[in-house]
Amino acid sequence: MADTNDETQVASAEDRGRVVQLVLGSLAAQTLRAAVRLRVVEIIGAKERSAAEVAAEAGTQPQATTRLLRALAGLGILQERAPDSYTVTSAGALLDAGRPDSLAALVGIFGEPVMLRAWEHLDEGVRTGSTTFASVFGTDFFPYLKEHPELSAQFNEAMSQATSATAAQLPQRYDFSRFTTVADIGGGDGTLLSGVLREHPALTGILYDTEEGLAQAPRTLGRHGVEDRCSLVVGDFFRSVPEGADLYLIKSILHDWDDDQAVTILGHCRAALPPGGRVLIVEPLLPAAVTPETAGLYLSDLNMLLNVGGRERTRDEFAEVCDRAGLAVTSVTQLGEGNAFCLIEAAAVTG
Ligand SMILES: C[S@@+](CC[C@H](N)C(=O)[O-])C[C@H]1O[C@@H](n2cnc3c(N)ncnc32)[C@H](O)[C@@H]1O
Repeated sequence: MADTNDETQVASAEDRGRVVQLVLGSLAAQTLRAAVRLRVVEIIGAKERSAAEVAAEAGTQPQATTRLLRALAGLGILQERAPDSYTVTSAGALLDAGRPDSLAALVGIFGEPVMLRAWEHLDEGVRTGSTTFASVFGTDFFPYLKEHPELSAQFNEAMSQATSATAAQLPQRYDFSRFTTVADIGGGDGTLLSGVLREHPALTGILYDTEEGLAQAPRTLGRHGVEDRCSLVVGDFFRSVPEGADLYLIKSILHDWDDDQAVTILGHCRAALPPGGRVLIVEPLLPAAVTPETAGLYLSDLNMLLNVGGRERTRDEFAEVCDRAGLAVTSVTQLGEGNAFCLIEAAAVTG
């Protein structure tokens, strides 16, 4: 057994390096956020540019710009091809806000000071199990968004960007031909539902969310050309969900809430299900035991604790909340290679 009092004991360079690298993670996130705010990737574009050229266009101080570009090159967002000559890498290109598969808004929201305030109190959150967002701001996260439309629009865009890969994969990975109307519960700006409706022209859709959640939806549905087949319904999923659908899609919603709240939302979906209808939960599954490959999921789990009071769940935990809502899980499938999301299909328990 290691003697922790042994003064001759020296940590390996690898172990020290790992800890230091982890500690620098929040600085890396802020470096990416600054790159997005200064439009560094758009300015460099497909060319090779010097720091002075970037500074002139961004309106920034040249020497500080050199320091930012070097840091971005170290993080793999840029490449320094020759001294003071930078290009954008394929990963860096995702910071271009104009790309359809951009992650710029996602970078923005994870570096957003309002989102990070709850994290300053992670120790308190762990000591008490409380949602520290509420103790810092005196209100819960979604009511806070309602009062801050700019942040709400940024959040909606970040959710859309986080969902775009799933919106591209889901239409092929699930048999939608059995259904006529899909309701997306807490569907935000409609990125996911648009993906499904576009690939399945016989389907109609209902996009259900709060007023602020739906604020950007008309633009998204219009961009995908599905606005004629999709109605927008404003409401509160703790009170009810719209009737008239035979598939209730619910992505990245249950993880925002504790078990009792998740059961309430699922119970409303259960009450609206016609015979033969299904609920389709789209969320990642926590593995039964921790694996390093799923480190991001455990960080997301803490984020849910601190910012919204929710949690990520294992397969058994999803089955349990479904069961409490009068639903039985009928299948669980992985969405696809490189996508942590799973499709958890559930049907009403009858009799
Ligand atoms: C994490 S986002 C997920 C959005 C979308 N389903 C996705 O995966 O991109 C949570 C969504 O739940 C919505 N929401 C929060 N509280 C709600 C409520 N009480 N009733 C209906 N929608 C709500 C938010 O407006 C937001 O669009």
